[in-house]
Amino acid sequence: MNFMELFSLMQERKSCRSFQSESALSPTEIRTIIKAGQQAPNPLNQQPWSFVVITSAEIKKKLRQAGEEAKQAVLDQGGPGWVGGFSIDFMEEAPLVIAVVVDPAKGGLGTFFNQPTGSIQAGSACMQNMMMAATTLGYGSLWFTFFDPGAVKPIIAVPENLELVGLLFVGKALGDIPASRRREPVIYADSFGLEYDAV
Ligand SMILES: Cc1cc2nc3c(=O)[nH]c(=O)nc-3n(C[C@H](O)[C@H](O)[C@H](O)COP(=O)(O)O)c2cc1C
Repeated sequence: MNFMELFSLMQERKSCRSFQSESALSPTEIRTIIKAGQQAPNPLNQQPWSFVVITSAEIKKKLRQAGEEAKQAVLDQGGPGWVGGFSIDFMEEAPLVIAVVVDPAKGGLGTFFNQPTGSIQAGSACMQNMMMAATTLGYGSLWFTFFDPGAVKPIIAVPENLELVGLLFVGKALGDIPASRRREPVIYADSFGLEYDAV
């Protein structure tokens, strides 16, 4: 694969918030996506992640309820009003949800230097790999964190000491997904704040 092919794949991955509910993934496809996730870099190769594959309509409904509660909590705290109109129907429509869970105790040697987020960083790389894999298989996906982990973890029985990197919603996209634009990168030369004008 050359760079342009890789970059096209990166551009093809767009956050999908509307799914065809009748687009279930096969067990092989689900395993393929998880295998891709596991290829991610991670501190000391401790592989801090585990995965909860969610297809149960009942559990999706509970997750959606937690999402609705999160929306309300944001509004109650004076958060942005658009949140009230943000539809999370996709939480029940998506045929598949994969929860990516990490063990903060597996954060590598950075933990000795006040870097407590190694496992989350690894879980994030894992999540991105999974989304890229889902894209190549023709599926849309969404990395979702708009919830109170304290409400979501018990729904899927995640132990208290583990952290949720996010819920990955996966399925065939319903309609075209608009591309979100990227601003010009902020790049400095040698030290933060020093102008970089080489390109
Ligand atoms: C850590 C993380 C959390 C996110 N949480 C949400 C979320 O809760 N709800 C949502 O609709 N999108 C969520 N997103 C998706 C972003 O909104 C999206 O990636 C961003 O707007 C850029 O759009 P694109 O993914 O289509 O390029 C999240 C993305 C990341 C990386």
